[in-house]
Amino acid sequence: MTGGIACYKIAELTRLLTKAGATVQVVMTEAATQFITPVTMQALSGRPVYTSQWDGRVPNNMAHIDLSREADAIVIAPASTDFLAKLAHGFADDLLSTLCVARDCPLLVVPAMNRQMWQNPATQRNVAQLRADGIETLGPDSGPQACGEIGDGRMLEPEAIYEAIVSFFAPKVLAGRRLLITAGPTFEPLDPVRGITNRSSGKMGFALARAAQQAGAEVHLVAGPVALATPWGVYREDVQTAQQMYDAVMREVPDADVFIGVAAVADWRVDHVAAHKIKKTAEQRMPTFTFVENPDILASVAALPDPPYCVGFAAESGDLEVHGEEKRARKKVPLLIGNLGPLTFGRDDNEVVLFEAAGRTPLPRAAKAALAQTLVAEIARRLPDTSIIS
Ligand code: CTP
Repeated sequence: MTGGIACYKIAELTRLLTKAGATVQVVMTEAATQFITPVTMQALSGRPVYTSQWDGRVPNNMAHIDLSREADAIVIAPASTDFLAKLAHGFADDLLSTLCVARDCPLLVVPAMNRQMWQNPATQRNVAQLRADGIETLGPDSGPQACGEIGDGRMLEPEAIYEAIVSFFAPKVLAGRRLLITAGPTFEPLDPVRGITNRSSGKMGFALARAAQQAGAEVHLVAGPVALATPWGVYREDVQTAQQMYDAVMREVPDADVFIGVAAVADWRVDHVAAHKIKKTAEQRMPTFTFVENPDILASVAALPDPPYCVGFAAESGDLEVHGEEKRARKKVPLLIGNLGPLTFGRDDNEVVLFEAAGRTPLPRAAKAALAQTLVAEIARRLPDTSIIS
């Protein structure tokens, strides 16, 4: 940690990392300790915090060497203007800069500064130098800053830094692939205030989008109405109705190598959406609706002349074995992932079966995030090897 008001957010990042099982060793510059105390960081990381190169607590008194030898990566967050300059020029005049120079592991920097400081030609030169030296830069974000100004230079939020770190370590089994994913429910309006939707939470689709991004894919996520944060590095497009989801998918699909339909798309919409709120009147206490069928997005994509590799999802309320294979064959997709839907909607775990022409493969019950990583690996294994073609 280097000096900056964003230091307080690193308390949360430390909590996220330790909760996920990482060992976090905090090293702070003198300036960082002006913004948050080592006591707080020690309590959250569960390890003593180092701030000085003269600290004798490391057995051989070589903190600048030993601390980085234990690490899989060093993350500088927040990374101040001054510290980026130091790194770019190889200065080693305090514990943190010295251990960066003496490291034998990857280095990731998370810049945090005022927009003028970020745009300053010297800072931009230093960042370009760091990238050329193989140092990963995460962010910065754009938005309101602690100084009251608005612009580039804001540190990424702790959740985004956490996801970027996980992403950094994930095997890049989908490198160079472009994925198009639908997720969540759709909302079919009846009138300006009411509509028909379903209980899909979007968690599985968002977890897949996140895992695919972490595996190196470029991910375009078309999301129905859900209250979920956009996974870091994923391009998200929000839609409401099945028709809007269809339009978005058809526009993007020519660029996609893989299409994964996770959304619980409404099968029907009313043929006429009332322009005004439907009222109870003396003559009509109860409205009657006529439905028309929505387009089948997955089947339409699979029927294109040159379709991407298509993956369907099916949430069934029973007889999964029969419905799964029947649905895969009907939609003409090579892979369909089936589950007993109503039991998993909104839950954080899931149990699925893979259906393909060669047969079925049940996967053990797992948290949706872990399952998403398994599914990404399963999908990657089935893709044509583009390296052979090129
Ligand atoms: N799907 C789609 N467009 C639709 C309906 C479904 O793209 N209009 C996709 C879903 O995203 C999912 C798969 O098709 O990947 C299966 O969805 P499901 O609702 O189980 O299939 P249906 O064809 O609607 O079958 P059912 O008769 O069981 O409702």
